[in-house]
Amino acid sequence: MKTIVITGASDGIGAAAAHELSRRKHRVVIVGRDAAKTAAVAQRLGVESHVADFSDLAQVSALASALLARHERIDVLANNAGGVMGERTLTGDGFEKTFQVNHLAPFLLTRELMPALVTARATVIQTSSVAARLYARFDIDDLQGERDYSAMKAYGNAKLANILFTEELLRRHGEDLAPVAFHPGVVGTNFAADSRGAMRLMYHTPLSKVLTKTPQQGADQLVWLATATPRAGFEPGGYYVNRALAKRVNPLVGDATVAAQLWDRSEALLAL
Ligand SMILES: NC(=O)c1ccc[n+]([C@@H]2O[C@H](COP(=O)([O-])OP(=O)(O)OC[C@H]3O[C@@H](n4cnc5c(N)ncnc54)[C@H](OP(=O)(O)O)[C@@H]3O)[C@@H](O)[C@H]2O)c1
Repeated sequence: MKTIVITGASDGIGAAAAHELSRRKHRVVIVGRDAAKTAAVAQRLGVESHVADFSDLAQVSALASALLARHERIDVLANNAGGVMGERTLTGDGFEKTFQVNHLAPFLLTRELMPALVTARATVIQTSSVAARLYARFDIDDLQGERDYSAMKAYGNAKLANILFTEELLRRHGEDLAPVAFHPGVVGTNFAADSRGAMRLMYHTPLSKVLTKTPQQGADQLVWLATATPRAGFEPGGYYVNRALAKRVNPLVGDATVAAQLWDRSEALLAL
């Protein structure tokens, strides 16, 4: 039985993964943003739950402290919370919200949970996206999207950051941890609820049923990676689509210089 912490587990892919993993008798710990939704899922599954809004980094640190107080070892951390954020807004911490919720917050959470992760030689999973290839225009000098912001570009950049973080986590902590990233497919969830245009059509109209996978199907790789043995089951540092290493990726995937820069700048932004 593994101790598996899943963020973004109050809904969608995370909730579906939590359901399947607790059905398989793992000790699942769910994290959500909305207290009522999180409590409802936790009650339904009979699992421990925590609430933290990743647009407030103090809540991320408090979450890490609460998890460390309860768990000496965490076998799997699934950094799954995230999404498209709409108009450019700054969080109370002063960072562009898409970048903070999808990248900086899980970066901080992973760093702060390191003692429990290292003890368990954990798998650290990032729910990335094909948006990293389709929409990212990554500029290491414009991590806050100050130039030519668009919601999808910011989202693509943040999801590319998930993959770069995965690669750099392997370089820096590969002896202790097995990081891995994946694209869940186009999944019919609450995702992109605030979007307009093609995204709205794809996710939030009657057409969605035809165009999207179910949350259970979207959770397949998260469940697979969480239960697989690193190296035997999957390649640490890899980015997976449909349970196979992705063939078509953003050209910056594998760029060790950019990945190291992103790590260093994330640390500097967080004053770690
Ligand atoms: N659906 C897709 O087609 C698709 C494709 C590629 C990648 N993804 C990625 O898959 C992951 C899960 O998305 P989903 O499709 O399951 O969407 P979802 O149904 O909207 O679920 C998103 C989850 O993230 C949480 N979350 C959102 N903003 C947060 C914040 N500021 N602080 C803390 N938690 C926050 C939500 O919490 P509350 O519900 O409690 O607010 C919810 O649990 C995301 O990282 C998304 O980018 C999705």
